[in-house]
Amino acid sequence: MAVVTIAMVPSASPEQSRAWCAQLEAGDILYFPKSPVPLSKDDASFLLGQQQTDSSLHKNIAYKPNIDRLSGFDAKAASPAAVERLRDAMRRYSQSVAAFLTEFLAPYQANWQLDYASFRPQEEQGRDLTLRRRNDLLHTDAFPTRPTHGSRILRFFSNVHPARTRDWVVSDPFAEMVRQFAPGRIAPDPGNALSRAGKAAARAVGLGAAIPSLKRSPYDDFMMRFHNFLKEDPQWQAHCPKYAFQFPPGSSWMVYTDTVPHAVLAGQYALEQTFLVRPQAMVRPEVSPLRILEEMARSRLA
Ligand code: SIN
Ligand code: FE
Repeated sequence: MAVVTIAMVPSASPEQSRAWCAQLEAGDILYFPKSPVPLSKDDASFLLGQQQTDSSLHKNIAYKPNIDRLSGFDAKAASPAAVERLRDAMRRYSQSVAAFLTEFLAPYQANWQLDYASFRPQEEQGRDLTLRRRNDLLHTDAFPTRPTHGSRILRFFSNVHPARTRDWVVSDPFAEMVRQFAPGRIAPDPGNALSRAGKAAARAVGLGAAIPSLKRSPYDDFMMRFHNFLKEDPQWQAHCPKYAFQFPPGSSWMVYTDTVPHAVLAGQYALEQTFLVRPQAMVRPEVSPLRILEEMARSRLA
C-alpha cells in the first residue's frame, strides 16, 4: 500500500485518470496536500463553530444529496437558521467534490452513485463509542443499513481543522489480507440472503424498508461480518502491519475504505463525501472484494 501525493492537480489525460482509478482499487491513498475543493472562508468559520453535544446518538452529521437533507445533528440545540446554514455548506462541499471527481476519475463517471456526505466535528481521540462503532480500531467499511450489492465504497476526506492534523493508521488491503481469515475463520455464505420469495413476502407485508438487513446480498452480509470480525480480533489489531499518516490542515485524501483497513486516532473537523462505484466500472476487477469472495465461494454473491 502507498500514499500517492498529488501536489498539483493537472488536467488529466484519460490514461492518467485510469491509472489513478487502478491505484485506488489496489489499495493506495491518493493524497492532496492542498485540497482541490477548498472551503470558502465563510463556510470554514461556520463549520468550526459547530460542536455536537450528544455524541452517543450519532457518530457524525450526514448530508443526503439525493433529498438535500441533513441528519444526525442535535435538532433540539440547533436553530432552524443554523440548520439551513449547515445544509448550505454541506451541499456546496458535496457538489464541489462531485464536480472535481467527475473529471479526475473520469472512468467511473457513468457508474457511480453519489452517496452521503458527512461532517465530523468531534475530537476523535478518546471518543466513547461501543466496540463496533469505534473508528480508532482498524476496520474495513460496510454500511449496516445501506447494502451496496457489490458496489465499492470510495471516500473523499478533507481535514478542515485550521491547525491540527487528522491522524490515521491503515493496513494492507483486502486482496492481500483476507485469506489470513477466509474461508477458515469467516466465510462468504452464498445462502445467507433472503430468497427471492422471502423478499417478495417481506415487501408484501411492508418489511423490506423497515428491516434493512433483509435487503442485504450475501456480499453485503460478508462485508458487514468482516467489519465486525476485524474490530473484534485483538490479536490482529495488535500485530497487523500498520502505516501511520498525519493529514495536515487543508489537505484532502481519497481511498476505498471497504478494502483498506483504516482507523482514525486523533483529529477534529473533517468533511467527507462517499461514492458507491459499480462493479462494472472497476479497472482492476481482479482485486475487488466481490470478485475475490465470489471465487472463494464459487458462487455469485450479489
Ligand atoms: C472512518 O471512516 O472509519 C473514520 C475516518 C475519519 O473520520 O477520519
Ligand atoms: Fe471507516
